[in-house]
Formats: sequence, structure tokens, C-alpha cells
Amino acid sequence: MPKIELKNVYKIFGEDPQSVLPLLQEGATKEEILEEKDHTVGLDNVSLSIEEGETFVCMGLSGSGKSTLIRHINRLIDPTKGEVLVDGVNVLQFSEDELLELRRNEMSMVFQRFGLFPHKTVMENVAYGLEVQGKPLEDRNSIAEDQIKAVGLNGFEHQYPSQLSGGMQQRVGLARALATDPGILLMDEAFSALDPLIRSDMQTQLLDLQSKLHKTIVFITHDLDESLKLGDHIGILHGGKLVQVGKPEEIIMNPADDYVAAFVKDVNRAKVLRAKTIMQSPETYTTKNKNSGKTLKVHENNFIEEFLPQVLEKRVVVEVIDKDGNTSGFITEKDLAQSLLTKN
Ligand SMILES: Nc1ncnc2c1ncn2[C@@H]1O[C@H](COP(=O)(O)OP(=O)(O)O)[C@@H](O)[C@H]1O
Ligand SMILES: [Mg+2]
Repeated sequence: MPKIELKNVYKIFGEDPQSVLPLLQEGATKEEILEEKDHTVGLDNVSLSIEEGETFVCMGLSGSGKSTLIRHINRLIDPTKGEVLVDGVNVLQFSEDELLELRRNEMSMVFQRFGLFPHKTVMENVAYGLEVQGKPLEDRNSIAEDQIKAVGLNGFEHQYPSQLSGGMQQRVGLARALATDPGILLMDEAFSALDPLIRSDMQTQLLDLQSKLHKTIVFITHDLDESLKLGDHIGILHGGKLVQVGKPEEIIMNPADDYVAAFVKDVNRAKVLRAKTIMQSPETYTTKNKNSGKTLKVHENNFIEEFLPQVLEKRVVVEVIDKDGNTSGFITEKDLAQSLLTKN
């Protein structure tokens, strides 16, 4: 069962969304609806499914509907039409109490502008969700202490947010979100306000944490590199429509339309494509290239950039092996050249 599911979700902002809905369903564009009906399309028939334990990145330009989408998951926004399911249950049917419970215990949000309490210390900020849950002070502090360590901020427990850099403040934001041990982490442009180097550190830290915690993370960004680095799957929004969902390499190899193609055209493919994505099967390889010379063994999950220099220098053929050491395919210089050339 998926952890989170959206089924045919429409969101229209304006005076009378229901009256405009049929027009949108008949295929009117966001622009037409704004012009003719003075309503704004937030989401246009979005369906998606997010597996437990994965990082799902939602990417799109500003105004494409990313924040609107993520806010449906904790019901900060209700859809004009459609269903939102968490653990298979339609959260639109939740009572106030059930909704409160869901927000307190099952999901946490990390915001772009950190959203810390300025008059609370790092410790008090991190422990805040636990306080709301009614945990005793001693437990709160001990959990908060562990979270603060996990994001590398030990020693700063008694500082106030204004005494910290942006990167450190967002570490506090992350520690606070994780303190209640939620199944779902919602991150809306959480790293977008940070300087590039700090941002890259935070991405690495999130990957490290996630490799231990296996949360279901919905991460929003307008940055392709960030999507590729963090996402198990990436969904691309354009004018409220989800135009493509796929693994990073699928998005790069087969962009669904010109909008996606424009996003991926300058990406460094060697950094993103893995051996398994571009290899040919042992059968095709052996029939075509029986007597090639030396081979270099690489793991399925290695990125092209990790073996490209050796292939070019030593003119070897790449033998791709799986985690048990069995041969799963081969990569020739020609395969490499083809996969690195931009098709779009
Ligand atoms: N509360 C609102 N009222 C009216 N229009 C809104 C509201 N929130 C978002 N929108 C519109 O919905 C569209 C999607 O917005 P948003 O989800 O914030 O995009 P993103 O997060 O991708 O930048 C935009 O056209 C935006 O102007
Ligand atoms: Mg936004």
C-alpha cells in the first residue's frame, strides 16, 4: 500500500471554484480560466502515489503548484475535488481530532524560512512538537538532545535562532521535524534559502539521515540538481498539471515534453546516469563484440563519471556486476557516447 496517494486532485482558487471545475475538466487551460473566470488553477487532475520510505521530489517552476500540492497532504489546503490518502485512509473524511492527531504524530513540516520560534532556544525549538504531544520535560529534553546531536549542533542547545547562521537554523528546523519521529516529512523548498555550499551540505546530511531513518519524505524544490540528488522519484509540475513522474534517470533519458526537456537539457548526465541504466544485456553484447579485449568491472549503481575516465584512458569494456558479483550487462565506448549525448 502506498504511504501517500493523491487521486484526481483539483484545486481552484477563487470565489466559486465548483462552478469553474467543469470547465477545467473539459480541458480549459490555467491561462484561460484566469482570463475568462478570474480563478487560479492550483492543481489540475493530479494523481500520484508515494511509497513508504522513499524520497519523492516535486519539482517545477515558481507558481506551478508545488506548495499547493504538499499542503494537501497535511490538509492545510482542501481540494476542490479529489481524494488524499495517507496509509490508505482518505484524510478528507477525518474529524478535527483525527486531523490534529495526524499532524501531531504522523507528519512534520520543514519550511523554507525555517519557521523557528525566535524567543525559544534551540533545545526548546527542537522539543516543541514533543511538548505539544504532552511528553514530560525530561523525555523531551533527552529526545531533543539526541536530535540536536544527529544534525551536528551539539553545543548550541541554549542559543537562540538569531545567534545561528541560516544553515544552522535549518538544521534546527530539521531536528525539530524529526523529534516527534513522524512517518512523513514534508519539506517545502527547505534548502532554497541557503547559500550553495551550505545547501549542498544540507542535502548530504538529509541523505545520511534518510539512509538510517527511512522516512517518507516529500521534498519540494525548483532546482533540478537538488531533485536528482535527493529523489527516489521525481514528479514534475507545470501549470498545476503533473506532467511526468519517474526515477531521476527516466526523467533525463525520456523527458515527457518540452517543459521537462528544458529542465534537463544542461544536466551533466555522467553524474546522474548509472551503469545499469545504460548497459546492454550480456546476450546482445556477446553476439556483437565477441573478442573485445580487457574488461573493467563496475557495480550496477556506479555513476558513469566514476568509470568514464578509465574507459577513455585504457579503452576497456565495462562489465557491469550486481551486488552478488554476477554479470548483469556490458557497456561499450559507443554505449557511453550515446548515453552522454543530449537527445533533446
Ligand atoms: N491562496 C491562494 N489564493 C489564490 N491563488 C493561489 C493561492 N495559493 C496559490 N495560488 C496560486 O496557485 C498557483 C500555484 O501556487 P503555488 O502552489 O504556491 O506554486 P509554487 O509553490 O510551485 O510556487 C499559483 O498560480 C498561485 O498564484
Ligand atoms: Mg511554493
